[in-house]
Formats: sequence, C-alpha cells, structure tokens
Amino acid sequence: MAVILAPSLLSADFGNLNREIEMLNESTAQWIHCDIMDGWFVPNISFGIPVLKAVSKIAVKPLDVHLMVERPERYISEFRDAGASVLSVHAEATIHLDRTLHGIKQAGMMTGVAINPSTPVTALLDVLYLTDVVCMMSVNPGFGGQKFIENTFNKLILLKEIIIKHNFQTKIEIDGGVSIANAEALYKAGADILVAGNSVFSQNDPKAAISELIALAS
Ligand code: DX5
Ligand code: ZN
Repeated sequence: MAVILAPSLLSADFGNLNREIEMLNESTAQWIHCDIMDGWFVPNISFGIPVLKAVSKIAVKPLDVHLMVERPERYISEFRDAGASVLSVHAEATIHLDRTLHGIKQAGMMTGVAINPSTPVTALLDVLYLTDVVCMMSVNPGFGGQKFIENTFNKLILLKEIIIKHNFQTKIEIDGGVSIANAEALYKAGADILVAGNSVFSQNDPKAAISELIALAS
C-alpha cells in the first residue's frame, strides 16, 4: 500500500490559502496536515480554530490536525466542530493521555498521539490500543523547514515492531524534515503516513512534488 502523504499547511502561502487548498484538492495528497501551535507548548503561534473552520469548508480531504498545545483536552469538541478528522495531541502536553484519547474517540475522530524526538516510543505502550495514529516528530516541533533527525529511524523501527507484535492497527506518521532524500527509506522502515511542508510548498510545482513523494514511498 502506498504511503499517505499529508502536506503541512504551515508552509503554505497564508495570503492565498484558498488557492493553496484548491491545489491540494487537485493533488494526489490523501490528507491535509494542519499544525496548531499555542506559543506555550512550542515557541511559535500558527493558526487556530476559525482558520481551520475556513479550511475545512474548502478542503475535500481529511484534515489531520496536530495540536502543539498545552492541555489539548480543553478543545476536543471545538476541533471536531472545526472539521478535524484526525486529532493528534502531544503525549507531553496532556496529563491524562488515556482519558484524552477516549475523549477524541467519543467525539468521533481518529485518535492521534504525537511524541517529541526526546520521548521514547515505549511511553506509548499502554495507549497504543486506542491510538489510530502515532505522529512521530522527526524535528523538534515549532517550525517548518527544519533538518530531519536521523535517530527517528531507530524509533520508527522499534515502534513498528511493537505494533506488529501486538497486532495493533496503529499507523505511524513521520512529521518534520521529510523530503525526496528520505521518503523511500522512511516508507521501507515502516512509515504509513508522511507529513511534508517545506519539501512540497517550496517547489515551483507542488503537485508534482506530492506525486513524486508518493511514488518514492509506494
Ligand atoms: C513542525 C510541524 C510540522 C511541520 C513540517 O512543528 O509539526 O508538521 O510543518 O514541516 P517540514 O516538512 O517543513 O519539516
Ligand atoms: Zn505537524
């Protein structure tokens, strides 16, 4: 099965968001990754619920929402109402992760847990049973266009082994620094979903860049 490619809106031209979403609608990308940053969990502020609502009115693909927000459990129903299909919270940002994931599921969304590069995959052992997507950060979250952290491969291989061993259905998403230089290797190591911001939106032909990344990871 080919990888799911989720272009990250963070690198889009916010002055022409409508045009950027139309481009993604026409592209072969399967999901749209939306990075929500609160300026507290990460040292940056991106966009919030009203913008996401506007995006969801135009987008014809599932919105994969990555919350880089302290205590994300405060906003579960708001993000569902804003159009999120997948809602990922950081394991480091919510004290009662199990409860938060149950809340996301009950709200009717796919459950996601994001982990920072310094968080071991073993921290997820007891929540994998209710996790649809692990968003494994391959950069320290906060900004697009950063360099991929190579140690991600060790974490990816270990998590894949655990998922297979226990027969979980969890998908692994790699987020940060994904490009044509590593897409194929990430797919071969077990990635199911690749997020790509800079490597899509910095290209003259983003649709071609999307198709190339998918072809490499098929
Ligand atoms: C980083 C975000 C990523 C980012 C990826 O905090 O979570 O989704 O937009 O962008 P690139 O692909 O440019 O590293
Ligand atoms: Zn992200």
